[in-house]
Amino acid sequence: MINFQLICDVDNTTISYLQEIAVMEKKYFKSPWTVEMLASSLCSSAVIVIATDDECDDKLVGYGGFYTTGDITNIAVSAEYRGRGLGKSIVDLMIDNAKTLSVDTLFLEVRVGNTIAINLYDKCGFKHIHNRKRYYEDGEDAMIFSREV
Ligand SMILES: CC(C)(COP(=O)(O)OP(=O)(O)OC[C@H]1O[C@@H](n2cnc3c(N)ncnc32)[C@H](O)[C@@H]1OP(=O)(O)O)[C@@H](O)C(=O)NCCC(=O)NCCS
Repeated sequence: MINFQLICDVDNTTISYLQEIAVMEKKYFKSPWTVEMLASSLCSSAVIVIATDDECDDKLVGYGGFYTTGDITNIAVSAEYRGRGLGKSIVDLMIDNAKTLSVDTLFLEVRVGNTIAINLYDKCGFKHIHNRKRYYEDGEDAMIFSREV
């Protein structure tokens, strides 16, 4: 079974999840967040929804983070767990938790070529508001999405 929980601070338990997130960051993103960056984000108002698989030693299989300012950081699901609704569950939980934390609007940016993520955000009620030219280090444009919570 997949379990979801919210990480709000850094302690002996959560640090091992941050290490697993950093491994996924390296695998799936061109500018990966490190454990230090993740820990520092938690110290400055970020929260992270994590998904773990209890049939696999509670290994981390997905995550999504956002700041209480409304900025979403990164979302990812392990390749072998994709296509079964986990990404949507993580985004929906981020929206629910944002509401609890009195966030008015969530914002995110996504590479124009990342069709799968764009479909996911569309499905979760995000609206495309504008583009940022050459936003990424490799020159790719970003699409900015927002959603009232
Ligand atoms: C984007 C990502 C988180 C989606 O996770 P996921 O668990 O596979 O997504 P879900 O199964 O919940 O799918 C939700 C929706 O996403 C879209 N989607 C998912 N897989 C897709 C695919 N292969 N092709 C097109 N759209 C797809 C669909 O709209 C889907 O809804 P549907 O199943 O009703 O059609 C995952 O692909 C990932 O980790 N990618 C690498 C990291 C990344 O790019 N993160 C986003 C950075 S902005």
